[in-house]
Amino acid sequence: MQALELLTTRSSMPRLQAPAPNSEQLNVMFRAAARAPDHVQLMPYRFIVFEQQQLDELGQLFKQAAEQQQLSDLDVERAQQLPSRAPLVIVAIACYQNHEKVPQWEQLASAACATCMLQQAAFAQGFGAIWRSGWLTESELLREQLGVSSSEAIIGFMYVGTAVVAMPTKPDKDWSGKVRFWAG
Ligand SMILES: Cc1cc2nc3c(=O)[nH]c(=O)nc-3n(C[C@H](O)[C@H](O)[C@H](O)COP(=O)(O)O)c2cc1C
Repeated sequence: MQALELLTTRSSMPRLQAPAPNSEQLNVMFRAAARAPDHVQLMPYRFIVFEQQQLDELGQLFKQAAEQQQLSDLDVERAQQLPSRAPLVIVAIACYQNHEKVPQWEQLASAACATCMLQQAAFAQGFGAIWRSGWLTESELLREQLGVSSSEAIIGFMYVGTAVVAMPTKPDKDWSGKVRFWAG
């Protein structure tokens, strides 16, 4: 896929199945993520990869998190099933460091760029992916079980796999009102 085609047609894919990216393809994804703009090279992010039977473990953690939130039985069951929507789930975490020149918002921006580039590199290799978040990003139980410290934030769950249906090319959004060429 050509770079500009990738950048101008990116579309999320929620319907995913095996195969997932292999280790070589995952390496490419993380290499791309590490190219994210990054003020003074803090690399303020990290990723945790779940695949195969580890997805069941993640489902158990989601279930326990839902129980802790005292969700309904149905929602607890739903939470447990969430990771089964893809053959690979990557938890994206922003890691904040104290730095006099780089405030937290810049580090979050960098982590978000890295996560987006991870997704783009999945697309570039023919996979589908979708970035999801929701209440689980704030779950204390999940944070603790995943070893997310008080200076870190879960910023999403990237579901990755092979698209079940052809990747839709959505029409371009009208961006014209978002750009102004300064004329004084
Ligand atoms: C930080 C972040 C969190 C998101 N969380 C969710 C989510 O929990 N569920 C969801 O369906 N989409 C979520 N999205 C949106 C999808 O990833 C996707 O961008 C959206 O469905 C639009 O599709 P598109 O990427 O093809 O334009 C999130 C996006 C971002 C950037």
